Amino acid sequence: MSQISPSILSADFARLADEARAVDGADWLHVDVMDNHFVPNLTLGLPVVESLRRATDIPLDCHLMIEAPDRWAPQYAEAGAGSVTFHAEAAAAPVRLAREIRALGARASMALKPATAVEQYEDLLPELDMLLVMTVEPGFGGQAFLDLTLPKIRRTRQLIEKHGLTMWLQVDGGVSEATIERCAEAGADVFVAGSAVYGAEDPAAAVAALRRQADGAAHRGCAG
Ligand code: DX5
Ligand code: ZN
Repeated sequence: MSQISPSILSADFARLADEARAVDGADWLHVDVMDNHFVPNLTLGLPVVESLRRATDIPLDCHLMIEAPDRWAPQYAEAGAGSVTFHAEAAAAPVRLAREIRALGARASMALKPATAVEQYEDLLPELDMLLVMTVEPGFGGQAFLDLTLPKIRRTRQLIEKHGLTMWLQVDGGVSEATIERCAEAGADVFVAGSAVYGAEDPAAAVAALRRQADGAAHRGCAG
């Protein structure tokens, strides 16, 4: 069953509680934390996550595009995030960090930028609850989906199956009704969508439609 995680990066930051209600039925709420160092953009941090946690029942999927996640990521788990994603390129000790996030009760997830290979992290996959394959360069919403990431999604799915893992495979960036089926066929099962959801007239309906599309394509992906 596919899961949809609408990114509030494309929402109105002055009305986040309303914007969370607007995606009723979403599996997660994707919260992009950017520090203007790891990526050339600045968004929000812990105080906003703490407030948002109290404002919605949808579990928070925090995507940390920050330097020094070893120092900061555990605090997002403490703040009540259901899932905490740090970037492989920024983490000094990813195994220790993933264990720390899990010990604090959150799902531990690691993200790879488009040019970062997954193979070097094969042995570490059992430490993770989810791997995020970025399908754009992180930093901004509304960018075009990078098709060159599809083979990596496929290879990641093969590694997950090879090791018999139950971890989830998330894609983030340019995911829309035009691209979600390709992602699902390649093996992704958690889909972040910012502009495709919040740019829609009815965001909740967009979530449901994306999930239907992904489920249909995943079925075809398995059959093929
Ligand atoms: C980009 C962020 C994404 C972004 C996706 O760095 O990680 O979560 O919000 O936005 P769309 O879906 O519009 O590409
Ligand atoms: Zn994101």
